[in-house]
Parts: sequence; C-alpha cells; structure tokens
Amino acid sequence: MLANMEHEIYRQIEETKLLPLYTATDLSCLDRLEEILVRNEVRFIEVTFRSNLALDAIKKLAQSGELIVGAGTVRTLAEAKSAVENGAKFIVSPAIVPDVIAYCIERDIPVFPGTATPGDIQRATEYGIKVVKFFPADIYGGLKAINALSGPFYDVKFLPTGGINEENFMEYIQNDHIVAVGGSFIISESAIKKDDGKTADKILKTLVDKMRS
Ligand code: 3PG
Repeated sequence: MLANMEHEIYRQIEETKLLPLYTATDLSCLDRLEEILVRNEVRFIEVTFRSNLALDAIKKLAQSGELIVGAGTVRTLAEAKSAVENGAKFIVSPAIVPDVIAYCIERDIPVFPGTATPGDIQRATEYGIKVVKFFPADIYGGLKAINALSGPFYDVKFLPTGGINEENFMEYIQNDHIVAVGGSFIISESAIKKDDGKTADKILKTLVDKMRS
C-alpha cells in the first residue's frame, strides 16, 4: 500500500506555507495560541512529542476544531497511534520510521518523514511519499541542497525545518520544490507568554505580511 498523495492536507499545507512547530509545557497557553493562529489565518499546528503534555495539547486543540492539528517529533508507533487517537490529522517525524509510516499509510494519515540525504528520500519514495521533511535544513545544505536533490528527485517536494527563521524563510517558500517551511520561529510558548500574546501576534503577523506582499 502506498501513500495517498491526493489527500487534501497536502494542498492546504502548500497554500498556508507555514507549519508552526509547537512544544507545549503549559496548557493554559493553548487558547491564545489558537486565537493568534486563527487571526493570522495560519490554520496548522504541529505539536511535538518533546514534552509530556503533547497528547493533552493535541487533544484540546483537535477538539476545538479551529486548527488542523498534527503531531511532530513522532519517533515511535505508540506515539503515532496515540496522537491519531487524540485527533492528530498528520504526522511529522525527524527520520524515516517504518512502523510509523506503515501505520499512517494504512489509515490515510499524511506522514512527513524526516530526510536529509538521497538515501533517505529514496526510502520515502518507496512508500509512495512525495512530500518529505528536510531536516535539519540549515546543517544539511539549505536551499542549495534542496535544489541539488530536486534534480534526481524531480517528483518530490520538501518541507524544510531546522534553522529556518524570519530572515531566511521567504527564500525557502519562494522555491518551487518547497511546499511549506516549518519551525519554532513561527510561534512559541515563550512569545505567547509575553504581554498577553501581543509579541507572538506581532511576530506571526510580520511573517504573514511578508509572504503576502
Ligand atoms: C524540527 O524538529 O523540525 C526542528 O527542531 C525545528 O527546528 P527549529 O527549532 O530551528 O525551528
């Protein structure tokens, strides 16, 4: 069984261009997180398994229904299963995790495995996956690497993360081989906690304005 690349999420993510990567350590920030993302029309969130509140955060955000909620840093089948059971609509992994990929394909859940080399990308394509995470993008050659990898992998698109920031994200999203960029620069708990979320809202608005100008 191969990945279904016709899934609506691929189109939506390509349209949104930004995939906020979020680690929850305080559930009281979630209402504000949702409010800021909705106000700026970024209706995606990747909640990482880097804190023990990941599942609670996925569940709460998914139940609210305002955002398309996915799970990130998914390294085990158990994490993928629990994320999906709690409402995650897509899965992002830092590497190729065969059990996670097989589970997602079977349930028609879009999965973005982490890749950094031709060997990784080749493995992903063997599952029919045509959109891969490219991580850590800055360390593995950034745009230069993505352009070079797009030669042989002309039918693959990239979701780069790692070292993307407000200075360089536009160069990435203007590249035809890139569907969207991900990262913690888009929104973070620490920014949300400052002055009632005004800082986080301003950071996101600046990114969105840059994209639309
Ligand atoms: C990831 O897992 O995708 C990265 O840790 C995101 O990197 P960043 O923190 O540099 O945005």
